[in-house]
Amino acid sequence: MFNIRHPVRTWFGAGTVEKVRDEAEFAGAKKALVFTDKGVLGAGIAARAIEPLKAAGLDVTVYGECAPEPAIADLESAYERFRDESFDFVVGIGGGSSMDLAKSMSVLFTNPGEPRDYLGVELVKEPGLHCALIPTTSGTGAEATPNAIFSVPEKGVKLAIVSTYIVPNAAIVDPELTLTTPEKVTAASGVDALTHCLESFVNPNSSALSELYSVRGMELIAGSLRRVLEDGSDLEARSNMALGAYFGGVCLTSAGAGAIHALAYPLGSRFHIPHGVSNSLMFSHVVKVNFPANPAKFARIARILGEDVGGLPDEEAAGRSVAAVERLCRDCGVPTRLSEVDVPAHVIPELAEAAFTTQQRLLGFNPRELSLEDIEKIYRAAS
Ligand SMILES: NC(=O)c1ccc[n+]([C@@H]2O[C@H](COP(=O)([O-])OP(=O)(O)OC[C@H]3O[C@@H](n4cnc5c(N)ncnc54)[C@H](O)[C@@H]3O)[C@@H](O)[C@H]2O)c1
Ligand SMILES: [Fe+2]
Repeated sequence: MFNIRHPVRTWFGAGTVEKVRDEAEFAGAKKALVFTDKGVLGAGIAARAIEPLKAAGLDVTVYGECAPEPAIADLESAYERFRDESFDFVVGIGGGSSMDLAKSMSVLFTNPGEPRDYLGVELVKEPGLHCALIPTTSGTGAEATPNAIFSVPEKGVKLAIVSTYIVPNAAIVDPELTLTTPEKVTAASGVDALTHCLESFVNPNSSALSELYSVRGMELIAGSLRRVLEDGSDLEARSNMALGAYFGGVCLTSAGAGAIHALAYPLGSRFHIPHGVSNSLMFSHVVKVNFPANPAKFARIARILGEDVGGLPDEEAAGRSVAAVERLCRDCGVPTRLSEVDVPAHVIPELAEAAFTTQQRLLGFNPRELSLEDIEKIYRAAS
């Protein structure tokens, strides 16, 4: 038994950003609210969505202050600012941070209560405003998922609004928009995309359908992440990454993540480490613990990541996935040890407690059941 959710319409390819206009016309929209951030505005990328909307005669309001790795307070302040205005189209153009704000706002306009009321699973009762999400990083896959992630500092964790109503009406994936993505963001968000494909592949909820996306996503990312870091203007490699990241979002939507994300969230929230970097810190250490639980799948992962596993039995080949992951993160210049990002060892029990108590939604789907002690051991291995 499985289910999958998709954006109603997905546009993919160089130049498709202009399709935001078709989407507005399709929705009969007159008044658009565009969420983006300073980096994306500064790179001239946001204009590529805003101009076609203006040219089509829409009244466009731009909120350009989306915070990186938003806290729930950032959503609350955007909500306070716009709650009394009326719009009929919401656009998010940016990385996961801007898209998560946009998709959450699209349902806050049509549902009562406060943003915090919707942290949790399927708490949103009414569909939102017509929403188009346009990624400018190849990472989160937020343009495809029913999730929006916010840190909740008083709890020391990141929590999610999970709702079928925030899967957008349109995902507009235009790899040209990622040509200006800064190198560090390209690397970290690329690792994030790979973790989505990998965690959903080994998730007990995976299915024939989600595996299509997981496997192809891993192939695309493994074949292009190093390339795109060598030459950021390589549009073919950028396209592969954008598609791989979108596939990562789709398979996440069907099968879900696991312990890499569960253990990364407390790091992101407590130390403001970018999401892709906190995933990289946990990546090989969680794979090391998980691979014996599913040797056939981890052997396949090792092969996809380019390990020469020849005629090795799955049990042995699977172990090679640990080194493959570690090497890829290293080659991309993304840290894989807590000490590299100044996370002190004395906070480990606190991190483990936060992961164990607040991330059961993800830990429940890890290929291996992890106790509080197991989690603490993983953080120590990564220190
Ligand atoms: N909703 C989901 O399903 C989902 C999944 C994974 C992660 N997330 C969340 O997404 C957030 C991270 O998103 P992200 O990794 O995409 O990074 P981001 O949105 O935080 O962006 C990182 C930085 O890159 C800059 N940038 C992005 N694209 C650019 C471009 N084309 N040109 C110039 N600058 C550009 C931005 O201005 C920003 O400063 C986290 O909060 C994470 O928790 C959400
Ligand atoms: Fe992620």
